[in-house]
Amino acid sequence: MRPLLQLALDELSLENAYKVLDTGVDEVVDIIECGTILIGSEGRKAVSILRDRYPNKKLVADFKIADSGKVMAGMLLDGKPDLITVICAANHKTMKAVVDEIKDRNLNTEVQMELYGNWTFDEIDVWKSIGINHVVLHHSVDETAGWSKKELEIVKKLCDKNINVTVTGGIDLDSIELFKGLPIYCIIAGRSIRKADNPKLEAQKMKDKIIEIWKE
Ligand code: 5RP
Repeated sequence: MRPLLQLALDELSLENAYKVLDTGVDEVVDIIECGTILIGSEGRKAVSILRDRYPNKKLVADFKIADSGKVMAGMLLDGKPDLITVICAANHKTMKAVVDEIKDRNLNTEVQMELYGNWTFDEIDVWKSIGINHVVLHHSVDETAGWSKKELEIVKKLCDKNINVTVTGGIDLDSIELFKGLPIYCIIAGRSIRKADNPKLEAQKMKDKIIEIWKE
């Protein structure tokens, strides 16, 4: 299975997000992400609006929930996203509250654990026991250097943990190659697609490269 391609819409307004989406990039990417910046700027309505616009597309509401699990999850789940994100620094009770809120609403939304800062591989079993089987390894948007050998080793080790592994942060057409041979679930690209002259074409190039690399 090739990794999926996710477009991170970290725009400050829906209007700006539409400018990217209206290039037809939605026809190319596998997943649309209502990014943290977009939700922070436009509010939770951004999730519902994107859901209504793309009823058949996988949609992520990325708000990196850190606390108040039930309320925060509820706020995002009103828009019926396919995935929502929780940050690894959250209390385990917060993580459980998010999972419980999904069950209470009879939704199939999947929870992704956003890996930032301090976490350990031992915690993965705890997250699994709570019902979280998907991690997102972040290379900070504020980091100017590319993915380090150490980060790539961490990706490899995560892939051995029988859990879905998504990677994000500073990934472009050239850096996709770094993940060659790894059973990555999804590659997220934000700026490299959104800031391209033709976002649809850039996404198509990235998708073609993923297909080419993972068929080998
Ligand atoms: C930051 C995020 C970004 O959406 C994601 O990392 C994409 O980054 P980039 O623009 O570097 O591709 O979740 O918190």
